[in-house]
Amino acid sequence: MIAPHGGTLINRIVTGTEREALLAKAQGLPKVPLDAWALSDVEMLAIGGFSPLQGFLTQRDYEEVVRNRRLASGLVWTIPVTLAVDAQTAKGLSAKSDAALVSHGHVVAILHLEDVYQPDKVLEAQQVLKTTDASHPGAARLQQTGEVYLGGTISMVNRPAHRFPQYPHDPQETRKLFAERGWKRIVAFQTRNPIHRAHEYIQKTALEICDGLLLHPVVGETKGDDVPAAIRMKSYEALLANYYPKARVVLAVNPSSMRYAGPREAIFHALIRKNYGCTHFIVGRDHAGVGKFYGTYDAQKIFDEFDPQALGITPLFFENSFYCTVCGSMASTKTCPHAESNRVSLSGTKVRELLQAGTPPPREVSRPEVASVLIDAMAANPAVRGTSAAA
Ligand code: ADX
Repeated sequence: MIAPHGGTLINRIVTGTEREALLAKAQGLPKVPLDAWALSDVEMLAIGGFSPLQGFLTQRDYEEVVRNRRLASGLVWTIPVTLAVDAQTAKGLSAKSDAALVSHGHVVAILHLEDVYQPDKVLEAQQVLKTTDASHPGAARLQQTGEVYLGGTISMVNRPAHRFPQYPHDPQETRKLFAERGWKRIVAFQTRNPIHRAHEYIQKTALEICDGLLLHPVVGETKGDDVPAAIRMKSYEALLANYYPKARVVLAVNPSSMRYAGPREAIFHALIRKNYGCTHFIVGRDHAGVGKFYGTYDAQKIFDEFDPQALGITPLFFENSFYCTVCGSMASTKTCPHAESNRVSLSGTKVRELLQAGTPPPREVSRPEVASVLIDAMAANPAVRGTSAAA
């Protein structure tokens, strides 16, 4: 089985007497509120999804990650995992003390503070997101969150209830499943969207050379117009039930939140999947992109900037894929010589319009079973209608 990033699968969930002691202590500690995003980070830290991180980045690690895409230890790490608070909250906190991380009135974790520091958020946005433009959801978040960061390891005392209890959440669980199935080459697929034919094509192409597929949708925070996770999970079920060999796929959830950081996030996504036990990772066109902030293949090119050994997980790159009516199959420009006019490909807006009108998009774009889940969800809940049901 592939080693987690840094060699050890982190587990920061405390139980038994240690938990009791921390819970008792928490009553007298300053409280730091967590929003849904920060809560998803705490969960990922606790379950080892972000191994080798054991908590929120200290100033030294943060500055290294922002500038050099590495932790102070030298390990590759491309996305700052940070906890922001406003100046008022920060006033009551000091390094070398503990704070209680609270969500909806409940203590979720204890933060063992090592650093209370002032980040350079403009530099962070420029380096990590390649933009400070607030129309980028990550840049907008940086502008909205507090001006002080808290660094230090965490101990999770109360894990939030699972929204999708029927699916594996933890690296330990997927690793166990892969071992039970005897899989050696395991390819992970990251997604924040319903699976359309292009996604299916690249997954299955990868599956031809791997033992198993981990379908690993992000179910933490996504931007407002992405399809809600609960509906996506239904659409994945419908797809898998009808088009995939059951014994070769694991559907698990990735509790983390989308950063939309394009290339840097592609590396981050790959390292997370290494922690979940995967050996290969799919990177298609505009991976983790948003708007026009990144070049179509920037998220592939960034892999050349790292020593493959330092990453430890093998990326599998795919060109923009589509259905070609002359080939009579899914293809990409790597395999199809025909003119663009022979391609069936619809914009996200067009697919959304069709779904809103209750019309399934062409079968060459979306499987009817998937379309039907999305059409029903839109009909039942007007709020879902504004979402981008296409990739
Ligand atoms: S992402 O933000 O999670 O990257 P999405 O769920 O749409 O968005 O994409 C999941 C994966 O499929 C990414 O690796 C992306 O690059 C890839 N992908 C999406 N659409 C296509 C396509 N038409 N052709 C090739 N790869 C694609």
